[in-house]
Amino acid sequence: MQPVEQIPLTDNEASLQLDSDGSLRHLLTLKGLDKALLTDMLDDAQRFLRPMGGLPARSTSLEGRTVANLFFEPSTRTRASFDLAGKRSGADVLNLDVNTSSRKKGESILDMIYTLQAMQVDIMVVRDASAGVPAYIARNVNDHVSILNAGESDVSHPTQGLLDLLTIRQHKGKIEGLTVAIVGDIAHSRVARSAAHGLQALGVGELRLISPPALAPDPEEMPFARLLDNLDEGLKDADVVMALRIQRERIGNLDGIPGIDEYFANYGISAARMRTAKPDAIVMHPGPMNRGIEIESALADSPQSVIEQQVTNGVAVRMAVLERVARTMAAT
Ligand code: CP
Repeated sequence: MQPVEQIPLTDNEASLQLDSDGSLRHLLTLKGLDKALLTDMLDDAQRFLRPMGGLPARSTSLEGRTVANLFFEPSTRTRASFDLAGKRSGADVLNLDVNTSSRKKGESILDMIYTLQAMQVDIMVVRDASAGVPAYIARNVNDHVSILNAGESDVSHPTQGLLDLLTIRQHKGKIEGLTVAIVGDIAHSRVARSAAHGLQALGVGELRLISPPALAPDPEEMPFARLLDNLDEGLKDADVVMALRIQRERIGNLDGIPGIDEYFANYGISAARMRTAKPDAIVMHPGPMNRGIEIESALADSPQSVIEQQVTNGVAVRMAVLERVARTMAAT
């Protein structure tokens, strides 16, 4: 069991992650990042994409640097792509085995971080089930260390948000003016929150958050979005449809949460339900996917689906973010 530590929750992660000249020092949230910086990061990521079947992009931007991946919650995509992104950028990459880490023996997060810092780890990639952990670490590390949020409770998943923005931009050419529908367990989704903040900054036309009432966010949290509980209304003329899984691990009380069959009937994205969206609408999912629950299996594998492209873009986005914080470090 992990020790209980008091993680102070604050609301100024956005200012903590930028240096006084506006350069990115940590990546904790997309909330508060402006259009110019987000666009630059997407442009950087685009440079790291190569045709499938050929060799992946490589760079030397992290040569001599050490990246530690600290995942205290399960992950396949984010962990693997940070690992590959670090290695393809020339870094030494340490993948800490959380099951054998000393945090299991009661060591505090900060003592673990100070231990890695003493080994000259430059960049720490952190996933944790508790809100506030990435910012808490960022406040306590030395000036030359960067913290990258790889998924924080239901709060934030900024590199996922960036890869989602990049995928949409590749298909639609822009974000401005688009109608984007995010469907599922919005209340517990860090993916929805990061996508929402990035889409808003880049000028999305209309953002619709569609969920059963029990899985809706607080209406005041994202006032720029339209909350709906009717899927057909939410998908009407949408350019982009993103399905989310129900985050059962974050839901204490399942009262009011529809069962699997009822959920698929009312909120599952299928080819039939997609007929109300625009004919060229793309279908997204951050993974891991529950086929037959939030998305019809055949639709997930159809030409409308960009789910594998999201995964490919994840490595490019993480190379771009690593390069950017390494540049900030070098200038410090
Ligand atoms: N999308 C995402 O965060 O997936 P993983 O949990 O596999 O990293």
